[in-house]
Amino acid sequence: MRRFPSASALIGATKPDVPVIGVRPHAAARAARWFIEHFPGDVAYAYKANSSVFLLGALYGAGIRHFDVASLPEIEDAATIPGAHLHFMHPVKSRTTIRRAFSEFGVRSFALDSEDELKKIMEETGGCRDLTLWVRLAVAPKNSRIPLDRKFGAAGAKAARLLIKARQAARELGMTFHVGSQTETPEAYVQALAEVGRLIAKAGVVLDRLDVGGGFPSVYTGAAPMPLSAYICAISEGVERLPIADRCRLMCEPGRALVAEAESLIVRVNARRGTELFINDGGYGTLFDAAHLNFTYPTRLVSRPVEINEAYGNFAFWGPTCDTIDNMKGPFSLPEKITEGDYIEIGNTGAYGRAMGGRFNGYGAFEEAILLDEPMRTMYPTWSAESGEDVAQQA
Ligand SMILES: Cc1ncc(COP(=O)(O)O)c(C=O)c1O
Repeated sequence: MRRFPSASALIGATKPDVPVIGVRPHAAARAARWFIEHFPGDVAYAYKANSSVFLLGALYGAGIRHFDVASLPEIEDAATIPGAHLHFMHPVKSRTTIRRAFSEFGVRSFALDSEDELKKIMEETGGCRDLTLWVRLAVAPKNSRIPLDRKFGAAGAKAARLLIKARQAARELGMTFHVGSQTETPEAYVQALAEVGRLIAKAGVVLDRLDVGGGFPSVYTGAAPMPLSAYICAISEGVERLPIADRCRLMCEPGRALVAEAESLIVRVNARRGTELFINDGGYGTLFDAAHLNFTYPTRLVSRPVEINEAYGNFAFWGPTCDTIDNMKGPFSLPEKITEGDYIEIGNTGAYGRAMGGRFNGYGAFEEAILLDEPMRTMYPTWSAESGEDVAQQA
């Protein structure tokens, strides 16, 4: 893959006709090292966020060996990673998927949130006594951009009953939860851990594993998430209060926080109508979250130098398909004089960007290049893996 010092250098050299994903593996590696250094347990990468081999290679090189997988295709891919520990954390799985994950790929770690799922897992693994079973709890989101509480999770007496049954079946019993993606303050983890404590007491079970899920934020325009160190402190304090033994092993499953800032998208302006820019990728491509969840990614003009004191304006984007929902309101801040033929770097698209893209209307093809410069925004600006120093983080 070609390498460029920056998106501007790439545009100067290639003037691409299709969108380009600018990959910054060094940013994924830095994020992974930060988590491995600071999180008091296993760091499992949520594979769904981005399965680029360049980013997976960077995460692996930084020491990531655990992976949260949710489907057979993800397992087939992730099983090729040497020494990978795969955790099948989707609480609802088909029988075939459980059977193949267990017998063909050696998966021994499964999440569940119902007695039906427990029965399925036990039947399809032949009553295996060597399983790690994670009971997924329903927990309340707080300050999360993408709450996940409606779909999965057991609560109250049902959760306690399930914990007792899973305890009888499992070699290792775990509890897991997800506070919602892009959770911008740590309170939801504190509340969720308090719920874990109540359920341990109610069910009277001994816990071997505890997974605090994903949800750790990246940094986009217009939001100021708390520094990641505040999440680690809140989680550590919450875990301290639990009735669990020291040998209970912690895990987290970040997706977004490990890869969001490791990719940018470089798009061309195909038309300008007032403050609306028609660009060559959109809500059916890499920018699903901008169109459908109103994420405002950071933006910058990369096809010419911006003059000192040049006026900026707020713009909305239209994607390339014929569909009117292919619209990204932003607002995205760009030089007032931006025009047809200009190129824009849209930053921090690495999580759930390429992963969600489709080919509707014949669009969605992209090129890729490695970018050697720093991400447009970072949660890890002053941390050095060499010194292990965590001086401060920007929001
Ligand atoms: C079970 C599970 N774990 C981890 C993640 C990763 O979450 P995030 O990208 O917010 O860190 C997800 C995302 O949906 C998930 O469903």
